[in-house]
Amino acid sequence: MCGIIGFAGREEAAPILLDGLARMEYRGYDSAGIAVRSNQWGLQAKKSRGRLERLYELTHGGKDLDGPLGIGHTRWATHGEPNDCNAHPHISEDGRIALVHNGIIENYMEIKEKLIREGVRFASETDTEVAVQLLAYYYKQCGSMLEAVGKVLHRIEGSYAFGIICADYPNALIAARKDSPLILGFGEKGNFIASDVTAILKYTRDVIYMEDGEIAVITADSIDVFDQEFTPIEKKVNKIEWDVSAAEKGGYAHFMFKEILEQPEAIRKTIAPRIRDGKIIFDNFLITPEELKNLSRIYIIACGSAYHVGAICKYTWEKLLRRPVEVCLASEFRYSDPLVDKNTLAIIISQSGETLDSMAALREAKRLGARTLAIVNVVGSSIAREADQVLYTWAGPEIAVATTKAYSTQLILMDLIGLYLGDLLNTISKEDYQIILRQIETLPEKMRACLSKLDDAQYLASRHFNHNSIFFIGRNLDYAMGLEGSLKLKEISYIHSEAYASGELKHGTISLIEPGTLVIALGTYHALFDKAMSNVVEVKARGAEVLAITTESYRERMEKIADDTISVPDVHPILQPSLGIIPLQLFAYYVALQRGCDIDKPRNLAKSVTVE
Ligand code: F6R
Repeated sequence: MCGIIGFAGREEAAPILLDGLARMEYRGYDSAGIAVRSNQWGLQAKKSRGRLERLYELTHGGKDLDGPLGIGHTRWATHGEPNDCNAHPHISEDGRIALVHNGIIENYMEIKEKLIREGVRFASETDTEVAVQLLAYYYKQCGSMLEAVGKVLHRIEGSYAFGIICADYPNALIAARKDSPLILGFGEKGNFIASDVTAILKYTRDVIYMEDGEIAVITADSIDVFDQEFTPIEKKVNKIEWDVSAAEKGGYAHFMFKEILEQPEAIRKTIAPRIRDGKIIFDNFLITPEELKNLSRIYIIACGSAYHVGAICKYTWEKLLRRPVEVCLASEFRYSDPLVDKNTLAIIISQSGETLDSMAALREAKRLGARTLAIVNVVGSSIAREADQVLYTWAGPEIAVATTKAYSTQLILMDLIGLYLGDLLNTISKEDYQIILRQIETLPEKMRACLSKLDDAQYLASRHFNHNSIFFIGRNLDYAMGLEGSLKLKEISYIHSEAYASGELKHGTISLIEPGTLVIALGTYHALFDKAMSNVVEVKARGAEVLAITTESYRERMEKIADDTISVPDVHPILQPSLGIIPLQLFAYYVALQRGCDIDKPRNLAKSVTVE
């Protein structure tokens, strides 16, 4: 999705803006631009469709735009096709104001028509241009940029994070936010605005999270935040703990590959602070044991891969808690008139903490009285701040669009919470609690063992990268894991792929199996291994080629039927998907590599989906 950076400092802004935009490339974009205020030339802007390299070339690495104050943007088209003209920053007709925007201005048509009647000429098809033209219109009337910004914010409807510079204000950058993330950063050589912390991590770790309705004025030496009536607000400065190198490729060909390899460490960091003296500890957990007993419903709500974590937890939590657990897609939950009351626990899982549908679902659950718990990776993100309680995954920055380490840390954190709640409810024996907990602690090592067998996945990918369609089949936890395996494959390799509950094959899907069809059969769930084998036999009888994933102890049996078998270490069944997913991630990665796909930035996808 779109990215914003802004800099007010004591050195040239353009190279810093370009660097910040490059660090947000992973979010997905189709055009980019920067605007800088120069003492000599006033506002100068350069924009271009396509990759950032073009903008680098156009500006000679930023050297063509001089001045220490500027804004930059990567756009993901919503209103108007991706072209130079629709790219941000947008400039007012008189050339004195430049503005970048994330979000959507819903009443832009009505305002645009009014401004056209007033004689304003528009250069683009975007909703954003309305904001800058309206700002220029008010600015002409009142002569104060801040007052004009206030008027614009009152007039527009929708969501926004704005960065604004004006030719008449050589030192100040203005920012405003509503329903679209924006942070302010204190740097040594100047101060920043950014929609994503990775854009400015190289320059600062001290940030302020802007809240909805706030306006900020940023200069090289100060950051002042106000409410919409311009009353100053005292803001807390937060320290970002992320390691800069974690957001860099560090010699790897792709972020996705690096992040797959980082999983053992990521889950270790997520687990370690929560286990003390053989017990799971969540300080001040939002539900007391008494309240837990009265819970009528648990919802797990999320999108995409995070939803697939929920799909696994439906099986594991119902075993651990002996309570019904509903898993909902956030985009469906928000419109489904959900059965939520004060005895409902709604758990929102989101890596970015900014996914619009998940955010809307969280607000809906809160409005209906639920207790809300967020499982989030990005510290200080919107979902993290709005939920009653947040538990962070400690995956570090995830840059590849296709999630791997965030997924794994979400899963392990949910395992820990499930076990913790099962213990509080006494629905799991002390003995099982200890067995599972001890096995959780062995997972990083076992994951490393899975990752040491890269070659198997690589070899199988080299044999199978030419398929047009691939099916994943499995039962129970294997089915839920297959949903994620299939999503990984399709999103980065563009091969059509679906995951089916094996028992459903006979109810229709089996008609798709023909000689040569590749079926990835998941047989890591021991309780249903014999059934999984029957399904393998069934698809083989129709000519399918079968690549099986199973555990070491079942490998021999699987090898007798499947064409190829990859095995992962055995672990408690509840935890098995944490290991089973590794070969599926690797297979997807190597298939995409063979097909020459843009692995870290798959077509049409964005890292954080902040529109509906
Ligand atoms: C797939 C993927 C997406 C995200 C989904 C939710 O690899 O990354 O399906 O899982 O867009 O994003 P978050 O977790 O940021 O809410």
